[in-house]
Amino acid sequence: MAKKVILDVDTGVDDAVAVILALRSPELEVLGITTVTGNVDVEKATKNTLHVLELLNRTDVPVHPGARGPVTPGTWSVGERFHGAGGLGGVQVPEPSTRPRKEHAVDFIRRVVREEGPREVTLITTAPMTNAALSLLIEPDLAERLSAIVSMGGAFCTGRQGTGNSSPRSEFNVWFDPVAAKVVYNSGARVYAVGLDVTTRRDAAISRELYERLAESPDEVGRFVHAILGAYVDAVGYAPMHDPMAVASVILPDLLTFELLPVDVEICGELTRGETVADFRDFDAEVPRRRPNVHVAVDVDGPEFLRLLLDRVAGLELG
Ligand code: RIB
Ligand code: CA
Repeated sequence: MAKKVILDVDTGVDDAVAVILALRSPELEVLGITTVTGNVDVEKATKNTLHVLELLNRTDVPVHPGARGPVTPGTWSVGERFHGAGGLGGVQVPEPSTRPRKEHAVDFIRRVVREEGPREVTLITTAPMTNAALSLLIEPDLAERLSAIVSMGGAFCTGRQGTGNSSPRSEFNVWFDPVAAKVVYNSGARVYAVGLDVTTRRDAAISRELYERLAESPDEVGRFVHAILGAYVDAVGYAPMHDPMAVASVILPDLLTFELLPVDVEICGELTRGETVADFRDFDAEVPRRRPNVHVAVDVDGPEFLRLLLDRVAGLELG
């Protein structure tokens, strides 16, 4: 039985690859995609998502635009500089011929979870958690009714890689809307956080060699993935697959190793805004610590992830 999921995205380059992976995986039934401002503004994220669905001939999947900005007060700017003009690695794509739905993302999430029944739907967020937080604030019972929230986000300091990207101590999706992340982590939902600790592992990233193999993909979707990854690989030498890993963790439940820990989010720090603080300390009974509330990904089978990813998004078989 396929797992029912809703994807919440800020399409962006790796969000686009995550959408392709999800829709080409029979283990998942994508009930719909909600969009939010993050890498690019919500209008662009929506257009880019519609384009990917047209490329996949999956315009049956509804797209519901969501929040235009973070719930965290203060000024903000989108992360377009990392995802190229337009948000797809600088690749200019035609205006989509399909339209998004009129129902707001938050209303869609709440309605579908109610219609599908308790613990039937997993919300996979690969963007700032603004839509998820708003849904939970409007309807707190959603935390129990969702099967889980699997969130690409955070940096839990499990090693040098788990520190930060948008700042020395915070990962972009949390940095962009730290209050939203705090709401989600403390909502009582079953939260699985797929952070930079695992998504930046080099054995789980698209190396230049794999990038060049993508150009030989037998189908146009694989070649589209090659095209949108180009700027990133040229700039950094490889392409971490942050968002696809969150999706892959739902497809292959054993792909990641999780540790249930007390986690909270710094929302005020001058230097540490958006830091996801996991408490790894071992306490004896006398020294209470906060209730463990987030399953933090602490390890990944990198080669297995790449085998799944390249096969599904590009029809390439890795040895
Ligand atoms: O830090 C990585 C995350 O920020 C990914 O979701 C990427 O798409 C950007 O949104
Ligand atoms: Ca994203």
